[in-house]
Amino acid sequence: MEQTPPLAISSPAKGGDEFLWGFWYPVLRSNRIRGRRLVASARLEVPLVLGRDAAGKAFALRDVCPHRAFPLSLGRYDGHTVECAYHGWRFEAHTGQCRLVPSITEDSKLQCDRIHAGSFPCEERDGYVWAYFANSEGRSPGGCPQLPVPELPKYGGRYRIAHLSATLDCSMDTAIIGLMDPAHGPFVHRSWWWRSRRSIREKQKAFEPIPQGFRMSSHTPSANSAPYKLLKVYGAAVTTQIDFVLPNMRTEEVRCGKYWFTNRTTITPIRHDLCQLDFCAAWNLFSWFPLVAPLLHFFGKRFIAQDQRVIELQKPGLKVQPRMMLVDDADRQARWYFQLKSAYLASQQSGMPMQHPLEGPITLRWRS
Ligand code: FES
Ligand SMILES: [Fe+2]
Repeated sequence: MEQTPPLAISSPAKGGDEFLWGFWYPVLRSNRIRGRRLVASARLEVPLVLGRDAAGKAFALRDVCPHRAFPLSLGRYDGHTVECAYHGWRFEAHTGQCRLVPSITEDSKLQCDRIHAGSFPCEERDGYVWAYFANSEGRSPGGCPQLPVPELPKYGGRYRIAHLSATLDCSMDTAIIGLMDPAHGPFVHRSWWWRSRRSIREKQKAFEPIPQGFRMSSHTPSANSAPYKLLKVYGAAVTTQIDFVLPNMRTEEVRCGKYWFTNRTTITPIRHDLCQLDFCAAWNLFSWFPLVAPLLHFFGKRFIAQDQRVIELQKPGLKVQPRMMLVDDADRQARWYFQLKSAYLASQQSGMPMQHPLEGPITLRWRS
């Protein structure tokens, strides 16, 4: 087994707190946009207006009129075009192409169709409207999505799904390294239903590189987390696998014979100092028990609130001491995150394929 020497590095590393363009990000829950309603939102410091066309397909435009920057979300939408409330210019909802400038006379030379409001490709998956952010402007020749929209893995047609969300008062990097930090569990998430402080023990986990991320290889989950103990009723071996992939996504799959539970957490920057956490879970476990979803909500909210509180309390300290230590092996995943991010940014700049920071499988050891 590979031994890693004790190591402390500081963050943010190169690329710290920089946004990553060229990815899909979840913007809104699908149920937020109904009928002809326009909904304003923001991700990656891009103001957005979302809606649905007459056929129900979602769209996302930059919420900034190209004429004089008025918010398009304050305008009217007829199911095809969004009308700016300032001078009445109309923009096609999916492409942002200008269709009408009411102030021009018939002999005007102005070519309306050359004018565009920024638009972002949109897809719906797992109850979210996702938008593809090629850049902050939202329209460029390279603006076509290179990657499919992320989808939570599901095994079989009959399952339940639940969603949780929270805002985190910190940068994307702070939130993401918190998401992948195994060492805080027994301290921050200490509770009768999850972990006790006494449950801390040495762990050894195998990791492997995957495209744009890394995987904690499939293994039998720690016996010291209460939720996993419940799965014993099924009698089958329980395995879990956890992936992190850029830009912001942690996906966990728990399998137990023909039963499964999958969940995904994404951390999406709203601004440089504010993030949206979206958690989505699907399962076919305990389908006879109607309280799985309510219990997941109840405990999930408390769990996320514990992390939110840490972030709040960390904030003044981070102002005077923005550099953090990453200590092997417990913080190695955080280090990989920064390395992946730097490698992605470098490949964007050079146009060369991304150099993956993980060369092969590796085993990490820590106590948690
Ligand atoms: S600012 Fe939108 S039409 Fe003038
Ligand atoms: Fe946590």
